[in-house]
Amino acid sequence: MNKISTKLAICFFIVVLIMESSLMYYLHQSIIHTRAEEEFSLLLANGANHRDVLIENYSDSTIKHIILMEKNENREVMITNSTGDIISSSDKSYMLQEEYQLLISDLNNEKDKILVSDWRNSSYIVSAHPYKANDQSGYVLMFQSTTSINQMVNNMNKHFIISGIASFIVLFIVYALLSKILTRPLIRMKEATEKLSKGDFNVSLPYLGKDELGDLSGSIYKLANDLERLKDERNEFLASIAHELSTPLTYLIGYSKIAMRKGLSEEEREHYLEIIGEESDRMKDLVKNLLDLARMDETSFTVSKEYFWANSFLENICKLVVPSYEVKKIRLNLVCESDFQIYADSIRLEQIILNLLDNSLKYSNENSEVTLKAYKKDEKTIISVIDTGIGIPADEIEFIFEKLYRVEKSRSRAYGGSGIGLAVVKELVEAHGGTIEVKSKLGEGSTFKITI
Ligand SMILES: Nc1ncnc2c1ncn2[C@@H]1O[C@H](COP(=O)(O)OP(=O)(O)OP(=O)(O)O)[C@@H](O)[C@H]1O
Ligand SMILES: [Mg+2]
Repeated sequence: MNKISTKLAICFFIVVLIMESSLMYYLHQSIIHTRAEEEFSLLLANGANHRDVLIENYSDSTIKHIILMEKNENREVMITNSTGDIISSSDKSYMLQEEYQLLISDLNNEKDKILVSDWRNSSYIVSAHPYKANDQSGYVLMFQSTTSINQMVNNMNKHFIISGIASFIVLFIVYALLSKILTRPLIRMKEATEKLSKGDFNVSLPYLGKDELGDLSGSIYKLANDLERLKDERNEFLASIAHELSTPLTYLIGYSKIAMRKGLSEEEREHYLEIIGEESDRMKDLVKNLLDLARMDETSFTVSKEYFWANSFLENICKLVVPSYEVKKIRLNLVCESDFQIYADSIRLEQIILNLLDNSLKYSNENSEVTLKAYKKDEKTIISVIDTGIGIPADEIEFIFEKLYRVEKSRSRAYGGSGIGLAVVKELVEAHGGTIEVKSKLGEGSTFKITI
């Protein structure tokens, strides 16, 4: 009872059974009714015919002729006179006279009439046709045996039973097909999802066409591939993080050992401790960025937008970064011609801009220039960070937003990045429902433009 095909088949069975039984019953009844009506009208027509002949030419020879005409097994004729006596009969055994004695003596109909119509229980159907010829009157009585009509009904019942059994067989075949077409793919999909839940993503499902089952099977296949890809990505990501963390750790361990050596001058020790400090900062940044990313992957991550003024917001950000810009002798320009309101999560937007400004600082040479520009266009806020730094090779631009992706690993080591900043920026911009675009030329500079 747990199989969907069994449930379907039972519903199908009941519906078809009800439909078929009512149709068969209707058909059966109407065939029998038509056949009986046919018998009645034939009997009436024959009786009327004999009566007409008798009226036209009443004589002994006509009567004989009529009797002779009905000398067959299934039909008998009798002719009575005005006193109700039988003057002639085709039934020489006199059985009919006896059986229908009462009926014959009690005739009073003035028109042709079926006297006995119950063909199921009686051996004959009987019709009476009154006649008046010269001074003679009476009835022409017709008797039609019900054997043939009962035989026909019996035969028909047999046919109906055979077709009933045949339809049961067809229904059973339908059940078997349903179970094959419907249940088997479902069982295979169930097995596939069980495999997936156990961590085995290598599932194969047959092609099931373009119906709902096919769609479902396609979705499971896609899910398996996605999970496989995610697993690979996660492993790759973990390996990269391990690598990223191990590099500063190696420095920390190495330089701390050197710094502990006896006989080092104060200057040398200070130099090594400085390196240890820098590497610790780098590790702290990396861990902070990783935490940001992890938080953003949670589905609960939301931005809470509010209105705030652009000018003061951007000026505060510039104040935060200017000291590090000054160290590298890079000029930071803020271009925000008319003040306007930004609708965003101010803390997140600050994080975005700080990341972009940090990149521009890291990837620009001394004595260059970086511009932070903001304006409103079609109800949207556009913020650009434009630098004249080292630029990004054209074939690398599409990857820079990927987690842990850095242009030339050696280059980033020199600049101290870990390749997470832009991944965080992109997630944050998208969480705002915005977009980020990059234009960059190697050796000439880069422009990052966000629209929110
Ligand atoms: N303004 C820029 N000019 C030139 N290259 C850039 C610029 N911004 C990003 N890049 C390149 O894109 C890569 C990815 O940047 P991303 O900010 O994600 O990582 P990162 O700066 O190396 O490290 P961090 O996680 O500390 O930000 C960088 O390694 C750098 O090579
Ligand atoms: Mg960065």
